[in-house]
Amino acid sequence: MAGQENSFYAQVFANNRKWIADKLAGDKDYFKRLAQGQQPEILYVGCSDSRASAEELMGAGPGQVFVHRNISNVVGSADLNALSVVEYAIGALHVKHVVICGHYGCGGVKAAMEPQDLGLLNPWLRQIRDVYRLHRTELDAITSEEQRYRRLVELNVEEQCINVIKTAVFQKSFLKDRTPSVHGWVFDMATGQLVDLHFNFEQRLEEIRQIYDLKPNH
Ligand code: CO
Repeated sequence: MAGQENSFYAQVFANNRKWIADKLAGDKDYFKRLAQGQQPEILYVGCSDSRASAEELMGAGPGQVFVHRNISNVVGSADLNALSVVEYAIGALHVKHVVICGHYGCGGVKAAMEPQDLGLLNPWLRQIRDVYRLHRTELDAITSEEQRYRRLVELNVEEQCINVIKTAVFQKSFLKDRTPSVHGWVFDMATGQLVDLHFNFEQRLEEIRQIYDLKPNH
């Protein structure tokens, strides 16, 4: 379209050709090896936000990270998409680490803190409102709205980590092989920094199993 020659979209295929040339310059068999299969070490579940670009902020290349992204990095109990990713990453790819990565300034978390009807997004954001309700005492005690918002981002990450350890595929794998480990991170786009929330998943697993034990055959 006239006048859009300088848009990012117009550059994509040229960028791709340059990327191929750069990769082949470093290793002429790069794509031959890439096509042979994947053995990623990490499953990364992050937000769809265009600024929280998973691979780039981790310095990861193709083949290193299995990625799932949705609005506000949710692993819902009836989300066939997210649960299939978790199932395949742990059960078939045998990833060593599962990461839930939220980010400060998350629009989905912000929307869930506000009274508004967003149509189809209502049931999605309700999952984050549920996180608020679970942690209402702590959150309501925070007087600064900005701080409360940041804390909800962190608590949402923790609850999604818990949703991962509620799954049968995780419990089966971890109770048998002590892997994968589960990590909660927050990306702070104002500084570029990744913050590790040091989510203690082994301790949480003990608590979780008092209710959500799926008694896998291990
Ligand atoms: Co977000």
